[in-house]
Amino acid sequence: MVQPIQFTGEDRSNATRLTLCDKEPVALRTFTPSQAVFAKSAGIFHFTPEGRRLYDYSSGVLVANLGHNPRRWMQRFCSYMGWKPEHIAGGETSGYFEAVTLTAYNAMTELEATAVERLLANLRSSVGGNRCEQVMWAASGSEAVQKALWACLHRDESRDIILATRYGFHGKKGLAGAVTGSETDHDRDPRVKFISFPMQECDDLSKSDDDFDVSPYRAELDALKQEHGRRINCLITEPYLGGGGSYHPPAAYLQMLQEWCRANDVILILDEVQANFGRTGKMYAFEKYGIEPDIVCLGKGLGNGVPVSAAVGRADLMGSLKYGEGSDTWSANPLACAAVLATLDEFEDSAVLDQTAKLNAVFIEGLMRMKETGIISKVRGEGMVFGIECADVGGHASNDIAIKVVEKCYLGRDGIGIHLLGALAGNVLRVSPPMTMTLEDAHASLDLLESLLQELATSL
Ligand SMILES: Cc1ncc(COP(=O)(O)O)c(C=O)c1O
Repeated sequence: MVQPIQFTGEDRSNATRLTLCDKEPVALRTFTPSQAVFAKSAGIFHFTPEGRRLYDYSSGVLVANLGHNPRRWMQRFCSYMGWKPEHIAGGETSGYFEAVTLTAYNAMTELEATAVERLLANLRSSVGGNRCEQVMWAASGSEAVQKALWACLHRDESRDIILATRYGFHGKKGLAGAVTGSETDHDRDPRVKFISFPMQECDDLSKSDDDFDVSPYRAELDALKQEHGRRINCLITEPYLGGGGSYHPPAAYLQMLQEWCRANDVILILDEVQANFGRTGKMYAFEKYGIEPDIVCLGKGLGNGVPVSAAVGRADLMGSLKYGEGSDTWSANPLACAAVLATLDEFEDSAVLDQTAKLNAVFIEGLMRMKETGIISKVRGEGMVFGIECADVGGHASNDIAIKVVEKCYLGRDGIGIHLLGALAGNVLRVSPPMTMTLEDAHASLDLLESLLQELATSL
């Protein structure tokens, strides 16, 4: 058994850590030095069993864009499912009540039809959503990516080559794993060829996109075309490298990829699994970057916490798969459809995107200030998704500093801390609180972060 992380004074949390460390393989979760235990959550806060309050700087992993347990979202979700308070009130524990089924495998529900229509209408009313003609539901982001790639490969089986942007993250399973990372990772799928993604050009918010030169990136694509000709089937990229360390490219890069794909009859897949539903400041990242993907992959924030994802795109591509080739137990299940509808309702009726714009300004100013502590060397991001890169400090490598920051923020001060994810790419900490955060909480949490970083810097 791996030694479980234990913190003094956290008996209940420690007991949970101990059980899970013993009864589940460590592989199930990514390493985060806090191993926070959540007893309950509301809005932008998690509460530990000991009653400590943690600002959630991760939103799950960019899932709870609307915060945790939002009341109106929950009311809408329950209403789509047909759940009423009297169904579970009154102490009756036997029998059944009439509501939408939790599973409709090999059948259809009106809820699913409503969810498809509403999602397509929302996508198609966004600039760049014109090619969103059919929805291939899935349960996780990697499955949506897998289904998107299956659709492309089935379109023409003589065209077997997939281009993917290097150091992207599309998931761990199947073809999603195959297009993740780079050619130096082990067991590469020979059909996948990696292309460069501009990282140096956008490794800090202080850099300008103005003199970005697309020509070396286009030359790389042309060389691959020379080598593989019409075998090149599709190109998959994230709008920005998320898991790879939060690198947000100049729009000209993605626009060049699209131009090249169109000129060479290559399908463009945009994996927005973490960027969708407002994270970039726009409802969809394709709007932000001024492109029109053939397939867009959605996930995470799509259900605000209920597992659901989708590949949405051209009907001719989706139609290349036959009966059953994209089916599984959970895809399009009613619970997922109700969650998507409730989430769409919130985005369409509330001012969450306006709030995101306001929060963006506060976070840019606040995070740039963190550099003065000496702990943070670079800040990257857009909308409400940021990466702060740790520096090497006092003989400690930046990767170790990132671990110390997560721990320090977890422990916080006076019963209040900050929940951070384990580092991306070793030394980058993700900052992506729910976009429903108030400006007051934004300032208060940034002030707390700054003083914790200052304290850490003096202790090193
Ligand atoms: C861009 C992107 N694509 C795909 C995935 C995989 O999603 P899941 O973990 O739901 O399979 C992720 C997860 O972080 C992601 O960020």
